[in-house]
Amino acid sequence: MTRPGDHREPMARAVGSPVAPAGPSGFPAPDGPAGVSAPWATADTLGVHGRAERGGAARWEPSGMSKTPVLDLRGIDKSFGSVKVLHDVSFAARPGEVTALVGDNGAGKTTLVKCIGGIHPIDRGEYRFEGRPVRVGSPRAATSLGIEVVHQDLALCENLDIVENLFLGRERRRGLALDEEVMEDMARRTLSGLSVRTVDSVRRRVSHLSGGQRQTVAIARAVLWDCKVVVLDEPSAALGVVQTQQVLEIVRRLADRGLAVVLISHNMNDVFAVSDRICALYLGRTAAQVRTADVTHRQVVELITSGVSGDLGLRR
Ligand SMILES: Nc1ncnc2c1ncn2[C@@H]1O[C@H](COP(=O)(O)OP(=O)(O)OP(=O)(O)O)[C@@H](O)[C@H]1O
Ligand SMILES: [Mg+2]
Repeated sequence: MTRPGDHREPMARAVGSPVAPAGPSGFPAPDGPAGVSAPWATADTLGVHGRAERGGAARWEPSGMSKTPVLDLRGIDKSFGSVKVLHDVSFAARPGEVTALVGDNGAGKTTLVKCIGGIHPIDRGEYRFEGRPVRVGSPRAATSLGIEVVHQDLALCENLDIVENLFLGRERRRGLALDEEVMEDMARRTLSGLSVRTVDSVRRRVSHLSGGQRQTVAIARAVLWDCKVVVLDEPSAALGVVQTQQVLEIVRRLADRGLAVVLISHNMNDVFAVSDRICALYLGRTAAQVRTADVTHRQVVELITSGVSGDLGLRR
């Protein structure tokens, strides 16, 4: 029988060609967006996690070997009015790994991601980042910790070019003027760090890009900054076969460079191709968190559709 791990090997080999990275994300580390700090952050949390301290000269050491979760959520509840969407959800993501978040339509994946990204406040539960309890009350707070989310709708501005989209709201300036040269250079280096070869100019308008190229720009915008966790909500949902393959290679490459990558996908082939672990949600509950190599395609489909598969899953 072909084990799931066997599916994953060829891709891991194909894309595992690390280039010496300058920052944890493996891309040219900018100085960091000056002044970005979470209003809630204490001196202590900023001292450890503050973006200003993480950028620049600090040399990245591969942390993927230690499998301690960088992101660790436990007992999360989330309701919208009287509708409870997340019930006692647990979710962990580790550096150097792709963690697939799977579940049927409406299972709560996007809601969980929005809680992780600070868009929705959690009602109850523990949110730990690098082993410490944190309160992530806004997208800015998540970004300050080093968590970047590429949302399902991408949220790119059609009428702006690639550079303008990458730096939107975080523009680099020289004096009062925008530093176009530096931003263009960082955009080029980030795209080439992702091995993007299909975009001919970083000054191309997003409205003129294909779906796959847009996805790449959205991912580049997330990893341009010195992030530690990148969350991708259905990055290949609207893509063809070749573009999906390219996006999956980028996903794997990000993890191989030490980031914790969270990938939401409905496509089991994609999940088994790139993920190290799988977290299955069923009706807003964590059915199981497993190593991809320890489960079969069928078991994961059962967890998604019924919340149970043999010994795995929710107890009735
Ligand atoms: N802002 C909101 N207000 C009320 N209900 C919401 C809100 N956002 C999500 N929901 C509900 O929460 C449930 C989970 O939605 P969510 O978008 O998290 O699912 P999902 O797993 O991402 O699904 P899909 O695979 O279709 O993207 C759904 O029943 C949805 O209607
Ligand atoms: Mg969703």
